[in-house]
Amino acid sequence: MPVRSPEVDPPAAPSAGGPALVRTRADLARARAGLPGPVAVVMTMGALHEGHAALVREARRRAASVVVTVFVNPLQFGAGEDLDRYPRDLEGDLALLGREGASLVFAPGPDEVYPGGPPQVRVQAGPLGDVLEGAVRPGHFDGVLTVVAKLLHLVRPDLALFGQKDAQQLALVRRMVADLDEPVEVVAVPTSREGDGLARSSRNAYLDADGRRAAVVLSAALAAGAAAAGRGAAAVLAAARERLAAEPGAVVDYCVLVDPRTLADVPDDAAGDALLAVAARVGTTRLIDNAPLGLAPPA
Ligand code: PAF
Repeated sequence: MPVRSPEVDPPAAPSAGGPALVRTRADLARARAGLPGPVAVVMTMGALHEGHAALVREARRRAASVVVTVFVNPLQFGAGEDLDRYPRDLEGDLALLGREGASLVFAPGPDEVYPGGPPQVRVQAGPLGDVLEGAVRPGHFDGVLTVVAKLLHLVRPDLALFGQKDAQQLALVRRMVADLDEPVEVVAVPTSREGDGLARSSRNAYLDADGRRAAVVLSAALAAGAAAAGRGAAAVLAAARERLAAEPGAVVDYCVLVDPRTLADVPDDAAGDALLAVAARVGTTRLIDNAPLGLAPPA
């Protein structure tokens, strides 16, 4: 897979009054050295929205300095996924990050992150990367973890914040940090939602008016499932699936109740932490959402 796509690199943009912007690893190292700690990192692929702003706010609450990375990582895009069409808006991103008080923005191009071309040695996500999103996006999580590891090494943060919205990514980052002894604390930030419950995502921009209406069924199904948590795993799944079935505008890929760490289906008599996760296609847009919940012990 080619790593370089020079025509789509974000343009260099001055950072007037906002956070310092660095484009190279050398400049990052210099700027990082002057940051008061603890230092938090929020990794993004740009096209930032309120969900990212919530991550930066939480990072600011927990750390003295917040580094935001903006990098559209070619390694995590599959053959049929359009890397070139991924939205890019570095100027808008810098404006948002200025408002949210980020300290430093690292927005490298692909050659800076992968100076030797596509990396020959990569992080393998293992079995956790093959299920759910990994089942429809083979190799995606290898690409995610490879760039997350590299960005951790380049930024050297004390904390790294990830959105609960991408629960599988979060579980895999936690697993990588534990398995590879990365010296960083991983912090999960609750999913940011629109007023009607729709999880904020860059992909929502692709929804037309009908799709936008239908998309609410994902969060509605999660709410229905969560409301049944006191009646056990089977009741949770039945409630969520019934709600999904009532919306013909959403074609469900999966609706599962899994262990949040292993992503394995929980048994019917499970109690304690579980993750209700859903993926559906609305028009041509694939949406995901999830809700962590506590299952009541069986009566
Ligand atoms: O969640 C994302 O935006 C990306 O997967 C991440 C973590 C920035 C890695 O490219």
